[in-house]
Amino acid sequence: MDLDGSEQDPEVQEHSPVYVGREEDIKKSERMTAVVHDREVVIFYHKEEYHAMDIRCYHSGGPLHLGEIEDFDGRPCIVCPWHKYKITLATGEGLYQSINPRDPSAKPKWCSKGVKQRIHKVTVDNGSIYVTLSNEPFKCDSDFYATGDFKVIRSPF
Ligand code: FES
Repeated sequence: MDLDGSEQDPEVQEHSPVYVGREEDIKKSERMTAVVHDREVVIFYHKEEYHAMDIRCYHSGGPLHLGEIEDFDGRPCIVCPWHKYKITLATGEGLYQSINPRDPSAKPKWCSKGVKQRIHKVTVDNGSIYVTLSNEPFKCDSDFYATGDFKVIRSPF
């Protein structure tokens, strides 16, 4: 008999929603951190929307919860405090500016490197916030710092 759920398929367990805090608290602080099934995530509340992503930057593991949020090309991004990489809150894409070398007078354009930071799902139920880890099967660069040898879970003590 499986009274405590410990015999549940680990795959299923890993993608069940986890309570991370109260809506009223994140609305005040506009961000919070949490450990969801052994994975560190940051949750942002920005312009009345919630966004959750791996806490460590895909580039070199920088602490995204300490970054500033700015709009680039009309897209809200977290700017990593270490080397200023820009990551879209909604999709986890890495943005960069490119210049056409054949036309140096042209204005630099914002381009996407594709999804680099894993985005997780936030749900709100009766004032409680839950995060469900992404189960998108692609390999995301931020997985490197969220799993395996480079995973750093901060001790609560
Ligand atoms: Fe984030 Fe380098 S670690 S930009």
